[in-house]
Amino acid sequence: MKQLEFSQANAQYLDAADPLKDFRHQFLIPEHNGKQRAYFLGNSLGLQPRNTGSAINAVLQQWAEEGVESFFRGEKPWLDMHASMLGTLSQLAGTKPNEISVMNQLTVNIHLMLVSFYNPSGRRKKILVESKAFPSDQYAVSSFLEHLGLDPDEILIEINSGNENAIISNDDILHAIEKNADELALVFLGGLNYYTGQLFDLESICRSSIAAGAKVGFDLAHAIGNVALKLHNWNADFACWCSYKYLNAGPGAVGAVFIHERHHGNNGLKRLAGWWGHRADERFKMDKHFLPETDATGWQLSTPSMLLYASLKASLDVFEKAGWRNILAKQEIMKAWLSGLIATLGDKHFICLTPDSKGCQVSLLFNTDGRKIYDLLFEKGFMVDWREPNVIRLAPVPLYNTYTEVWQFSQALKEAMLEVYSIDEWTAPNHTHI
Ligand SMILES: Cc1ncc(COP(=O)(O)O)c(C=O)c1O
Repeated sequence: MKQLEFSQANAQYLDAADPLKDFRHQFLIPEHNGKQRAYFLGNSLGLQPRNTGSAINAVLQQWAEEGVESFFRGEKPWLDMHASMLGTLSQLAGTKPNEISVMNQLTVNIHLMLVSFYNPSGRRKKILVESKAFPSDQYAVSSFLEHLGLDPDEILIEINSGNENAIISNDDILHAIEKNADELALVFLGGLNYYTGQLFDLESICRSSIAAGAKVGFDLAHAIGNVALKLHNWNADFACWCSYKYLNAGPGAVGAVFIHERHHGNNGLKRLAGWWGHRADERFKMDKHFLPETDATGWQLSTPSMLLYASLKASLDVFEKAGWRNILAKQEIMKAWLSGLIATLGDKHFICLTPDSKGCQVSLLFNTDGRKIYDLLFEKGFMVDWREPNVIRLAPVPLYNTYTEVWQFSQALKEAMLEVYSIDEWTAPNHTHI
């Protein structure tokens, strides 16, 4: 642990010592007035890796040259593409490779997982969710219940933060699981809350859910590629995620699911089926009877888009080269640097919603005029995001952001606050532990 003053010189010192500093050049960075913007939106749409275009072009080329034979022939037959992504993805998710299926998009996958893992029976019908879950999760769960003829108001147990910061204490989650143990069929939470940036303690949530006799699954849109996960060892039943945030696979990228291997051979588990989930060695026999693959790929439905697979693979190659451990190590230092810099701005005009937990994102709730602050930051070249009522979220990421950009952001935020609130004194501390 080293105590660092908040200065530009120390930002430069951290950048010079950063083992990932060259990876920034592997991304296409938006520009503003001829200068690269500081892009802090890993939580929204990650930047485009430079190798994405050529990876997609290679698929187009193969299609042009070989037509449908591209599935089976050439240097990289399309049928091998799925398996080629599982090594890196399983590292990021903490799973066995065969527990992941790359398919569809996130909300579609939530529906598919509910089919398999929500089995209401007798008194055991309830689903525990967070009250401030991402809207698509809420729509998916409610519409799924309605489709089954159940009333979401009766089935859903919404866990509330009980405070204006929207932070939910882990004890409250565990207590709610224990209290409702007899009636709980499923615990379904976002692993890292999209609004506050709070990372839940997924290990203890899995343990308690299993002890309560409930199934447990997570929406990991904001966790995958951002924080360390151990889905297999935690014994989660399922998880799903999108690949366009920290995974940088592009807008509308293909998503993925994790299904714990203890469920793989269970043909009693309900699932919606499609021919791409049929056993690969039998698929082209075109048999009427569905015979699922004996791993997570048994949940696939349709012919996957090779264009989307190519863009995800291109991005995973960058993760592979950078090394997941290096990425996680830089994430922790960068978060400490960002949180410390924000603390120097005091708490008179905003509060930091994000608890002291892992993950790139920080959410700032302004008392007033947050939108004006956001607009000024954008004009100054900083890309962060805006959420009602008065929240600015930002997520500098290890692969393409620098400590200097984070330092510059704190200066720009200070200037924006001076302008909007007419303040001129800063009384907060001026150093942090890195
Ligand atoms: C936590 C979370 N869940 C679900 C979604 C919806 O994902 P999709 O539109 O890919 O289905 C998002 C999108 O940002 C999200 O952040």
